[in-house]
Amino acid sequence: MIIASSTDYRKAAKAKLPPFLFHYIDGGSYGEHTLRRNTQDLADIALKQRVLNDMSELDLSSELFGEKLDLPITLAPVGLTGMYARRGEVQAAKAADKKGIPFTMSTVSVCPIEEVAPSIERPMWFQLYVLKDRGFMKNALERAKAAGVTTLVFTVDMPVPGARYRDMHSGMSGANAPIRRVLQAMCHPEWALDVGLLGKPHDLGNISTYRGEATKLADYIGWLGDNFDPSISWKDLQWIRDFWDGPMVIKGILDADDAKDAVKFGADGIIVSNHGGRQLDGVLSTARALPSIADAVKGDVKILVDSGIRNGLDVVRMLALGADATMLGRSYIYALAAKGQSGVENLIDLYEKEMRVAMTLCGANKLSDLSRDSLVNLK
Ligand code: FNR
Ligand code: LAC
Repeated sequence: MIIASSTDYRKAAKAKLPPFLFHYIDGGSYGEHTLRRNTQDLADIALKQRVLNDMSELDLSSELFGEKLDLPITLAPVGLTGMYARRGEVQAAKAADKKGIPFTMSTVSVCPIEEVAPSIERPMWFQLYVLKDRGFMKNALERAKAAGVTTLVFTVDMPVPGARYRDMHSGMSGANAPIRRVLQAMCHPEWALDVGLLGKPHDLGNISTYRGEATKLADYIGWLGDNFDPSISWKDLQWIRDFWDGPMVIKGILDADDAKDAVKFGADGIIVSNHGGRQLDGVLSTARALPSIADAVKGDVKILVDSGIRNGLDVVRMLALGADATMLGRSYIYALAAKGQSGVENLIDLYEKEMRVAMTLCGANKLSDLSRDSLVNLK
């Protein structure tokens, strides 16, 4: 298969993965309206072409939370990454490290913190979910600190999981799920050998390490619903703020008032996100939510954004709308599933090339040249 873009990686991932995993990654919640809007609204934003400005020197680097980023891109926390490629979190982290950008480990990763953090040179970022068993939070933060994590990403848009219809149809959850998954694995022998057999142990590594016993994945979706804590509020964040000395970034902001509260609270960054259209279906795409949030808090806090970004042109659009940096979710996961670490490295190279073309033709030599003046307001 010829790979020219992240769309091709999606096709390759679909061919390689058992359907229960592909649809868990690819799907959104309920009618998937927000999932579709995320990509469509971004594609609808018209870039303004400017020419003859000597674009021989481009600088795509920036600084974020005291770290140098070679590109304004970070890898988002994605649960079960070690199911999509053998010890997938390690492979993705190494790819990000090689390309000079941060990797964020999910709470619900397959590999534990202690397996991934020492495999890279940059400090890993760690994403925290609050479980009803609050002992886990302290344990995870202590372990993250010990492993050299500096930036903590605290995700706030999943107090309860949104329903994902595709998971019920695919065998990720629902009736006869375990036997359906075994049958699917048998029809995907490359994955079955590489990840299914040689990629073990398959469990939630961070939680197993805390509990001292394997957290089985047989009913992962049910486990999320049983263990995530819907009582979470700003009060809980204070405890974390006091405990955590490094930068703290709140992920899942979609409203300017919440963004202002995050600034009041003392967050170092926010991530404008609707969880890739996986939580509350019907909410705004991030491309549409971002401008009013940037108007409210730009400069007071670093603004990252994700959901729907599929190429370097989208990164340029998000920066023009007011973001300081972006996060990639599905697009790097497709590349990881298709080709492992080298796929993710290649994907990041594609993003860089696409960004260079977009910046050249928008007349922006450096990231700070991008603003809403780089866009055409069509509506
Ligand atoms: C996610 N996301 C996510 N976010 C988070 O904070 N913790 C997590 O464990 C997960 N798990 C997860 C699994 C899968 C399969 C996907 C696709 C996403 C959300 C993720 O960090 C990010 O917000 C979205 O993926 C961004 O949207 P795009 O780039 O996928 O459109
Ligand atoms: C998801 C969770 C794990 O989106 O964040 O599936």
